[in-house]
Amino acid sequence: MSGKFSTKSNNLERTDAIAKAIADSLEVGTLLCMYGDIGAGKTTITKSIGKYLEIKEKITSPSFVILNEYHSGKFDLYHFDLYRLEEEGVSTIIDELREYSQDPKALTIVEWAQFDQNELLGDRLSLQIKYFDDETREFCFEAFGTENTELLNRIEKALQ
Ligand SMILES: Nc1ncnc2c1ncn2[C@@H]1O[C@H](COP(=O)(O)OP(=O)(O)OP(=O)(O)O)[C@@H](O)[C@H]1O
Ligand SMILES: [Mg+2]
Repeated sequence: MSGKFSTKSNNLERTDAIAKAIADSLEVGTLLCMYGDIGAGKTTITKSIGKYLEIKEKITSPSFVILNEYHSGKFDLYHFDLYRLEEEGVSTIIDELREYSQDPKALTIVEWAQFDQNELLGDRLSLQIKYFDDETREFCFEAFGTENTELLNRIEKALQ
């Protein structure tokens, strides 16, 4: 089962609403793979998702540390950024990537998921963020697997 859904965001408030729809729709552990250029908004929407998961710590970009984890919210959040590893370096964190992306009670978000060397091509929710101008983005979701397709349906409904 798979499905697609795209929605525009013209400002940070709309991106925050998309994040709320994601956080409120989570029912089981989920792998959310993010794609999009530098400055697209991957970390920005992750911070909002964390807020709506009621994570108490400040969420910061994992660009330099590769992985941040948070355990104070409704779901555990594992937040990866593979950019600095590029293709050849991902093997150094592949065990964590495998383990956390299968965690049944965690949300695992991976920025620059295209650098994962095909580890993350199973059931997942994919989010491509397209940059239009300073304020405008398009959020393009694609779900793979039954649970993620149902999740995407709930997200879509929450945004109607
Ligand atoms: N509608 C919008 N949605 C999301 N971000 C927006 C929007 N409009 C402006 N922005 C700005 O775009 C920037 C996005 O930066 P962010 O760090 O989230 O990008 P990123 O995709 O994580 O980049 P990187 O690949 O470097 O990690 C922020 O400064 C944010 O305020
Ligand atoms: Mg980022």
